[in-house]
Amino acid sequence: MAELHEALRLLLAGELVAFPTETVYGLGADASNAEAVAKIFALKGRPSDHPLIVHVASIEGLSQWGRDPSPDAFLLAESFWPGPLTIIVKKASRVPDAVTGGQATVGLRCPSHPMAQDLLRAFARVGSGAIAAPSANRFGHVSPTTADHVRDEFGPGLFVLDGGACEVGLESTIIDLSRGAPVLLRPGAVTREDIARVMGVEPRDRDADAPRASGTLDAHYAPQTAMTLVSAASLDLGLRSLTNVAVLALHEAPFSARVTSWIDAGSDAMRYGHDLYSNLRTLDASGAKRILVEMPPLSPEWEAVNDRLNRAAAGSLPIDDEP
Ligand code: TXA
Ligand code: MG
Repeated sequence: MAELHEALRLLLAGELVAFPTETVYGLGADASNAEAVAKIFALKGRPSDHPLIVHVASIEGLSQWGRDPSPDAFLLAESFWPGPLTIIVKKASRVPDAVTGGQATVGLRCPSHPMAQDLLRAFARVGSGAIAAPSANRFGHVSPTTADHVRDEFGPGLFVLDGGACEVGLESTIIDLSRGAPVLLRPGAVTREDIARVMGVEPRDRDADAPRASGTLDAHYAPQTAMTLVSAASLDLGLRSLTNVAVLALHEAPFSARVTSWIDAGSDAMRYGHDLYSNLRTLDASGAKRILVEMPPLSPEWEAVNDRLNRAAAGSLPIDDEP
């Protein structure tokens, strides 16, 4: 396939390639090439001390790019790879500091998207086999879940492998195994219950001394338009008192609603997560002065969605302030 060849050529030449994964699109570079990796930070506008995830073709990548991974790391990889789980382990010496932001650990992930698999397998034959990639969006923006989203972020200068809409739509679960007991740094499609079932212990939540992770900053994944999370009751209230609002709801618009835009994202958590970033982009582009998001339930299957919504709304104004 011509596109795959071009992607390989660019990676080998130390250039950037955007590629699909089952979670979101990644902005990739050869993980063994510090100069290539530096281009990711420059293009994204990301601070250089925020570590990148290294993508590998298979479980062998765990011992190639991690240093003496624990049996738990292999257990998790065997259970959930290829798939939406990133495992943080001590880094092998071949991982450049540019990838890890100088940290002694590395995040490893084996994506399941067939195009990502093809790319990584081919790159293992002709190159280092490891692709460092953050989500293919500018720092702080909403992650891309289609090739068009990536083109909207970076324009025509960036080569994008088009693998259609991402199946999961939210970034991978991140589990840190580098500091003893497992710590859940970012919730995702692999849930804490999934991890507990395999490891026999519930992962802990990250605390104040957890390593820096841009995906764990507040005010991340944010649309440009002021966005507020509201209860169903406050949504009714807001609809009566505010003008020029765009709404992301769990149900259809009431007959009386006068809004700029209304998206019924439904009440299925997987489906909601799959569509979330696309929906936020649509509402952001609607010209509304404010986005109101009806709060989903707090049950476990909504954890990853609630995490992203809380970050996207962080720093936004309460409903009775003008944006
Ligand atoms: O689903 C995903 O994980 C996507 C696709 C492209 O694989 N990637 C992604 O990358 O979301 P990014 O850079 O947007 O988010 C990766 C997160 C960041 O919060 C980063 O700080 C954290 O992973 N991370 C990476 N390496 C780490 C490490 N050694 N220790 C702690 N956090 C790390
Ligand atoms: Mg990101």
